[in-house]
Amino acid sequence: MAERSSDVREVKLWDPLLRGFHWLLAFFVIAAWLLGNYGPTRMTLHFWCGYAVTFLLAFRLIWGFVGPPPARFSHFLRGPGAVRGYMNHMFLREPSYWPGHNPLGALSVIAMLAALVAQVLSGMMTESENFIDAGPLVGYVSSATAKAAKNYHDLGANLLLLLVLMHIGVILFYRFWKRENLVGPMVHGRKQVRERS
Ligand code: HEM
Ligand code: HEM
Repeated sequence: MAERSSDVREVKLWDPLLRGFHWLLAFFVIAAWLLGNYGPTRMTLHFWCGYAVTFLLAFRLIWGFVGPPPARFSHFLRGPGAVRGYMNHMFLREPSYWPGHNPLGALSVIAMLAALVAQVLSGMMTESENFIDAGPLVGYVSSATAKAAKNYHDLGANLLLLLVLMHIGVILFYRFWKRENLVGPMVHGRKQVRERS
């Protein structure tokens, strides 16, 4: 059903800390991934990028409870009914004007954050093939756990690549199919949204 354009207005959606979090996260995740796969044998820089990601994830967890409403998990996490409802009209060639993460996008946000938590935790229990660099928790776990963590860390890096490629693919889908620019709001904070009753 077509909606009146008067329902749509521009609001300040994403706060500066959330935006800073997002672009720093993207930078350090890409850096950690590249250094892990193609960096020098010594993993020092990789570790520091991983610690930066850990710090950012801790911030995001707290911000999800105490941040402004659009940043809160309770604001964007919805049940299966809401996800189905959103999917029913997501292929319409018009902007969603959604005031935050939509119910389906929220699932991908949680998937990315969870995959990142698993990545940094497994990294901290991983020993490097050069036997010099060891995650700070290696000494606290059995060698079987360290081995499992290393296997997961290798696999998790590929899972992250997949999730990030999907993330960018969906943003392009919004840009070119739905004619809605989601990147601008993540840069300057303002977004056109539709009032929901
Ligand atoms: C490793 C790279 C990246 C990671 C790990 C990542 C992760 C995330 C996460 C976790 C969120 C949710 C924000 C929140 O915490 O509430 C998000 C949202 C977003 N990201 Fe990324 N991102 C990455 C790269 C990018 C890139 C390259 C772009 C631009 C092309 C981008 C554009 C966006 C936009 C527009 C949103 C908001 C989506 C919405 O309106 O619901 N991201 N990203
Ligand atoms: C988002 C964060 C991270 C990403 C994307 C990432 C990614 C990667 C990748 C792609 C590799 C190479 C895997 C392979 O093919 O062998 C790797 C290796 C490794 N990472 Fe990470 N990592 C992250 C965080 C961490 C953290 C926080 C630590 C520990 C403090 C860590 C410790 C290690 C170690 C010790 C290796 C070497 C494993 C080996 O020699 O096979 N990583 N990481």
